[in-house]
Amino acid sequence: MLDDLTVTSSDSTGTWFDTAGLGMFIHWDHASQQGLEISWPLVGGGDILEHAQDVTPEQYHSSAATFDPQAWDAPALARLAKQTGVQYAVLTTKHHNGFSMWHTKLSDHSIEHTPFGRDIVREFADAMRAEGIRVGFYYSLCDWHHPDYPAFTMEHRPYQLGVSPPMPPDEQWASFLEFMYGQLRELLTDYGKVDVVWFDGGWERRASQWRSSELETMLRELQPGLLINDRLPRVGDYETPEQFVPPTPPARKWETCMTMNESWSYNPDDHDYKSPRSLVHTLCEVTGRGGNLLLNVSPRGDGSLPPEQVERLEHVGAWVRRNGEAVLGTEAGLASWQHYGPSTKHGARTYVHLLAKPYESVTVRGVKVKQVERVTELASGRELAFTRRTGIIEGFGPDPEGEITITVPSDVLDDDATVLAIDFRS
Ligand code: GLC
Repeated sequence: MLDDLTVTSSDSTGTWFDTAGLGMFIHWDHASQQGLEISWPLVGGGDILEHAQDVTPEQYHSSAATFDPQAWDAPALARLAKQTGVQYAVLTTKHHNGFSMWHTKLSDHSIEHTPFGRDIVREFADAMRAEGIRVGFYYSLCDWHHPDYPAFTMEHRPYQLGVSPPMPPDEQWASFLEFMYGQLRELLTDYGKVDVVWFDGGWERRASQWRSSELETMLRELQPGLLINDRLPRVGDYETPEQFVPPTPPARKWETCMTMNESWSYNPDDHDYKSPRSLVHTLCEVTGRGGNLLLNVSPRGDGSLPPEQVERLEHVGAWVRRNGEAVLGTEAGLASWQHYGPSTKHGARTYVHLLAKPYESVTVRGVKVKQVERVTELASGRELAFTRRTGIIEGFGPDPEGEITITVPSDVLDDDATVLAIDFRS
């Protein structure tokens, strides 16, 4: 079992991200006071987000003036994240709607100019780091508020995903880029070590317009070791499938980002919550394919998390405290034909995740049977009996491949997902 829930190692070829397992995404801005999905309502809602509302840009931006999230408690959120097994956390520092959650010198449309006034990004980064959680900044490249982008107005409706909004004159675009580069420079200079920049919204312009490679160079100079996701066109260290477990795992490192209901930010009318157990299963499925799960939370207008989300984090956390060794610090395990369900591995140990209840036993195929030393149910440490089988002729070989059949009594089954740990001779 993991002593504490922080994974410190990764394999020698990669970075901490390769085996992180679980991250926390936080989507939040002033419009959570209105219960609005983040950004999309101001362009008329979004076809891909069924609960996104439709309001005018003015209506959306108006709640910046009253933002005062007195219940925001970054250290408490970081403690909750830590107890859930979260290894890295990514906050929306600025979403498509253009509101900055830090004290930026480059715009008045920021948290500094609200009744709250405190620097939320700083509090987030400090609190997460204090718990040993790595820090990620979500930053939207497109900006539906900045006059030079240019800002989105009712005249631009309907919003068409995949269709670039008109470019402003060159000078104006240059001034927008100066603003955007400047904001990123602030975030990567004044907030300590940043582990991830999580771009979004890059679809509205081309790589040459964002000057992607110049931007990448600047970011990497400011923060050596920084990881950048794949949403700045032509740049990126890892892929970000959204809201699902990709049928074929991407060839390079990846992360599924997923909401607990169907909204990114707080929406009191969205009751479509996934069950706590299914979130555990998703964590197993994602890590079993070699990815990380970036599980989203949505603070309310006052900064507190909705109880449905706290309950789910606590539920996932309780499972992780029993079985975290099988999803944190691991890599993808067996191929899908070898066992019915996900599996992971770390060193000489393979973790077989049972997402359905077995009939008495579980068979794992295509393993070096003589090298299997022990099988235990991970959470209890209880040793389970198993038998080995190989082809008759193959069985005479020194190190044959075959199958092991593990007896799984019903009283070792976990309520959410049972993990069997198979120890091979190392
Ligand atoms: C989308 C949406 C956005 C959300 C993001 C997270 O691209 O625009 O609202 O922040 O996905 O993956």
